[in-house]
Amino acid sequence: MALPLRISPSLLACDFARLGEEVTRAEAAGADWLHVDVMDGHFVPNLTIGPPVVAAIHERATLPLDVHLMIEQPAEWAERYCAAGADLLSFHYEAAAGGFDAALKAFRGTGCKVGVAVNPPQGVEPLQPYLKDLDLVLVMSVHAGFGGQGFLPEVLDKVRQLRDWGFEGDIQMDGGISDATAPACIEAGANVLVAGTFLFRHDDMAQGIRSLRGIEDPVEEDETEEAEVEAAS
Ligand code: DX5
Ligand code: ZN
Repeated sequence: MALPLRISPSLLACDFARLGEEVTRAEAAGADWLHVDVMDGHFVPNLTIGPPVVAAIHERATLPLDVHLMIEQPAEWAERYCAAGADLLSFHYEAAAGGFDAALKAFRGTGCKVGVAVNPPQGVEPLQPYLKDLDLVLVMSVHAGFGGQGFLPEVLDKVRQLRDWGFEGDIQMDGGISDATAPACIEAGANVLVAGTFLFRHDDMAQGIRSLRGIEDPVEEDETEEAEVEAAS
């Protein structure tokens, strides 16, 4: 059975001064999940959101919170982020490589759904024995740390590899996702698309979300007329 396509706008690109309204705007635009980027200033050279802010987002949101932990010692924080209202917690393989089994056990113990993220240089081979224990694999399509970077198409091979191995869970892609890059992600086998800059800077977020789903909006009549006038001149 095909997995549903889910769009998860990344709040990293929202107006943080209006966080609650931005949550509501993404939900009204047709999002499926909300992506929350947690950075610690150590695992990545950027610092963002702690558990109280996740709790505040949870208070406002009606959609599931997909929390992407880009932090060292992720297992030590698993319980606190789950208690703050996360539905899914993803941690980086590279951040837990020394004690991956223990980290996975700690995340499993929280009751949240569990994902493992890999940065572009990291292969997915070490994850193969664990796939049956994972709800999601997050294949980063930029280097974790900042929004607004360009999509790295070479990571699509990892998505194909995971599906070739028979992984039936969610495969999420995160970084540089737009209407231009989404089709290749879906084609490769990804079913959860995170988009920050593309959606929050779009002049019509609902239309942006539809475009990620591959839905083409009908061209407005006056736009057609304008195009005809341009073509004729
Ligand atoms: C980057 C974050 C992404 C980021 C994506 O480290 O994990 O979720 O917000 O931003 P865009 O869509 O702008 O590449
Ligand atoms: Zn992210």
